[in-house]
Amino acid sequence: MARNPRYDLLFEPVKIGPVTARNRFYAVPHAAGMTNSMPQMRAAFRATKAEGGWGVVCSGYVSIDPGSDDTPLPYATLWDDDDVRSHALMTEAVHRHGALAGIELWHGGGSVMNRLTRTAPISPSGTGWMATHVGFMGNQRPRVMEAQDIRALLAAQAAAARRARQAGFDIVYVYAGMGYLPYEFLLPEWNARTDAYGGSLANRARIVRELLEVTHEAVGGRCAVALRVSLEELRARPSASAASEAHELVALLADLPDLWDVKLDSSPTDCPPSRFAAEGSHEGVIDFVKRLTSRPVVGVGRFTSPDTMVGQIRRGVLDLIGAARPSIADPFLPSKIDQGREQDIRECIGCNICISSWHDSVPVRCTQNPTIGEEWRRGWHPERIAPAAGSASILVVGAGPAGLECALSLGRRGYEVTVAEAAEDLGGRLRFETRLPGLAAWGRVLDWRRGQLARLGNVAIYRGNRLSADDILGLGNTHVVVATGARWAKLLWSPLEVAAGSLAGPGVLTPDDIAAGTRPQDPVVVYDFDNYIMGGALAEHLARGGHSVRYVTPAGHASAWTIMSNEQPQVHRALAAAHVAVHTLTRVTGFEAGVVTLASQFTDALSRHECGSLVIVGARFADDALHAALTARPAELADAGIRSVARIGDALAPGAVVHAVYSGHRYARELDADPAGLTARRDAPLARSA
Ligand SMILES: Cc1cc2nc3c(=O)[nH]c(=O)nc-3n(C[C@H](O)[C@H](O)[C@H](O)COP(=O)(O)O)c2cc1C
Ligand code: SF4
Repeated sequence: MARNPRYDLLFEPVKIGPVTARNRFYAVPHAAGMTNSMPQMRAAFRATKAEGGWGVVCSGYVSIDPGSDDTPLPYATLWDDDDVRSHALMTEAVHRHGALAGIELWHGGGSVMNRLTRTAPISPSGTGWMATHVGFMGNQRPRVMEAQDIRALLAAQAAAARRARQAGFDIVYVYAGMGYLPYEFLLPEWNARTDAYGGSLANRARIVRELLEVTHEAVGGRCAVALRVSLEELRARPSASAASEAHELVALLADLPDLWDVKLDSSPTDCPPSRFAAEGSHEGVIDFVKRLTSRPVVGVGRFTSPDTMVGQIRRGVLDLIGAARPSIADPFLPSKIDQGREQDIRECIGCNICISSWHDSVPVRCTQNPTIGEEWRRGWHPERIAPAAGSASILVVGAGPAGLECALSLGRRGYEVTVAEAAEDLGGRLRFETRLPGLAAWGRVLDWRRGQLARLGNVAIYRGNRLSADDILGLGNTHVVVATGARWAKLLWSPLEVAAGSLAGPGVLTPDDIAAGTRPQDPVVVYDFDNYIMGGALAEHLARGGHSVRYVTPAGHASAWTIMSNEQPQVHRALAAAHVAVHTLTRVTGFEAGVVTLASQFTDALSRHECGSLVIVGARFADDALHAALTARPAELADAGIRSVARIGDALAPGAVVHAVYSGHRYARELDADPAGLTARRDAPLARSA
């Protein structure tokens, strides 16, 4: 198919200092959890984006000095020549596919604890990051930077820039974003210095200017020098000489960087979940930058629509379309637009499971793209899959995220696939979950798979078809895959932190009951110890539907785990806006005669509240009765020619949608594969010179 001429603009080359990007698609710096400890995985992961058409592919954050150590978070290092070899694997791989390679040189300043190197952290005025996120908390505070520390910082940046050039990078960054050291100089909260680096914005920006200068000098005109800077706080600050301090900063440094890469200040605003921010959410902060510089500008905003991208360029907001998450969800996004295949783009759903993998310090995972991070380790390619090893017909029972992904991937391999779904609509759990506040974009998991399946002649889908074990034995498929999902349980939470002690009786409900149309009686208590999105989203949903809602959780925050996916601050705001009363560190101990009893987590102090319905959002158990019924009849399975019965997704082990999609995909990849080849390859750091 030919490219739509409306999108030609996206494929114009862009000159960035001494180098030229082949198009306007720019995969911005983002950590992927692989660091220098998994260099082959990292190289293959970045190379896949280059193969998918991105004009520039960047690294994640790369420490320039042992004094900037983010352990246990997954940062990379460029401290010595051994690190050069590790990064060179990536640049070579990216170059093979015709893209430029960028590296984000980083110093964490007062935001890191240097847990590994045990060096005292530094910051402009001895202020540290007083994070409320447990993952970022620490009890090591930085020391005030002295003049010699500033000289050492500039020297470390210059040395790292030289190594970056040696490793083959084309674009070398100065990173002044998100609470890290150069950003700390920009903000008076961090910077109370009285020397030439504090006070006026020109003084506070001096370190950024000098970092840019030493980087230019170090790369000697062979690489472009980019500045990544967070502008949200500065844009909110008045300036005597400009519309805001952000305007003043950009005017001050105007053409010093070869590229401006502009972003927001905190992960929840820079990388917001789709629940709380639409595509292009950065525009209101960064829209002025292009007017103040002649250098190209790249920005982000979960861009997946080529029309939005073209709009950003035509309206003079951006020159290059930056993407982290859209390039994870679909590394082939540019190629698909180039080939006139926009409908094939696997659009990011904004669930932020990817950012949670950064918080977890593991290779990046993605709800939409199960192959991410597995390019080298398992040899999975996002667009290619091995043809079927032989002919076989596979019955997939259940068309939720796992079943649909499994059917699609099996269908692509060429198997004859039948999908039987008990409900009239496809989607499993997502049929309900996408109706919860802000979760409509999660429907892309279904939409994309439905669209792709519709093109496969070898996959038949039957809705409203609840199959029994007897039915299946009569169908004569070669393999049966059970993807029947999971059910929420009416269990309470024990102080041992396990789900225990069943609560039955009228008025006790679960999300399954609400999904099935049960209308709870007011006042409603939502009791959440699942800690992911369901409890908070359901409470908000019921409150917005006119119910009086109380939200109770033994955790310290509502939807406690969503701190990992950048959602939690907004969950609290959303619950407050919907007038939901929130009780944290509290458990439900009983419910009868229209009264719920709550106990304080630490004091056991009791309180009683009127309650019409108690909705328990706690444990989930696999709905695996069909699997059990089938596997209990091995002789009949053999007689029917059924060679295997397997479970996938929630029917195997209840999890988030990301786990379900991965499980369905993995089954499809591994069916009929040589068992000897199924062990994932283990990556290791490149051997150090003595
Ligand atoms: C998994 C993940 C890791 C990230 N790591 C970094 C990083 O190392 N350095 C950085 O400047 N930004 C990082 N970011 C922020 C992104 O570069 C980007 O600014 C943000 O995700 C918004 O862009 P998007 O809407 O295209 O995802 C990360 C984002 C994600 C999702
Ligand atoms: S994990 Fe979710 S937010 Fe991240 S890239 Fe994938 S779909 Fe997008």
